[in-house]
Amino acid sequence: MGRIAVLASGSGTNLQALLDDPFIRPRIGVVLTDRVEIEALDRAVKAGVPAEAVDRRNYASRTSFDAALMERIRAYGADIVLCAGFMRILGPEFVHAFPNAILNVHPSLLPAFPGAHAVREALAWKTAVTGCTVHFVDEEVDHGPAILQEAVPVLPDDDEESLHQRIKQVEHRLFPMAVRLLLAGRLVVEGRTVRILEEAEAPN
Ligand code: GRF
Repeated sequence: MGRIAVLASGSGTNLQALLDDPFIRPRIGVVLTDRVEIEALDRAVKAGVPAEAVDRRNYASRTSFDAALMERIRAYGADIVLCAGFMRILGPEFVHAFPNAILNVHPSLLPAFPGAHAVREALAWKTAVTGCTVHFVDEEVDHGPAILQEAVPVLPDDDEESLHQRIKQVEHRLFPMAVRLLLAGRLVVEGRTVRILEEAEAPN
C-alpha cells in the first residue's frame, strides 16, 4: 500500500499541505476534483502531479459518479484515498473498495458538528472550543474512527472566516501527520478507535 489519490472540491489548501510534504508528495499519483473550475487542480498542475476533473454534473447518479472516480483512481494505481475538502459523500461500494485506506479531514472535533457547516455551527452553539479531526472514512458522513484531533479555541470576535482559517492552520499540520502514519503502517483500526503504533512496532 502506498500510492495516493487526493480528492478535492475547494481551494485546496489541505492538498497544498500534502504536496509540500516531501515524504507524501512523491506518493501522490493523482489529484481528482468533482468540477473543472477548482483551485486544487491548479495547485496539482503547478506541483507537476497528474490532475483530472471527474465532473459530477456528467453523471446521473452518485453510484455512477463513484464508479467513475474509482476507475480513475485505479487507473493511476492508487490504493489510498485522501479527501482533502472533498464535498461529495462516497457511497458504500466506494468505501468498501479501499478498506481502512480512505482518510478525511473535518473542521470540528467529531462527533460534534458533522456535515458541511461545522464551523458555522460551532459559532452558533457558542462553544468555547472546536477543532479538527482526521479520521478514516466509513459509510456514514464524518463518522469513521478518529486518527488525530486537536482543539482550536473559539475567540469572542471570531466569524466563520477567521475561525475556519485558524482551524485550517491546524489541519495543514495534522492531515499530513496522519497520512505519514498511515504510509508507515502505524495505524491499527480497532472498532471505533485507532491505535497508533510506536515506530519500532510498525510492520515495515
Ligand atoms: C477544510 O476545512 C476541511 O476540513 C473541510 O473542507 C475544508 C477544505 O479546505 N473538509 P481546502 O480546500 O483544503 O482549503
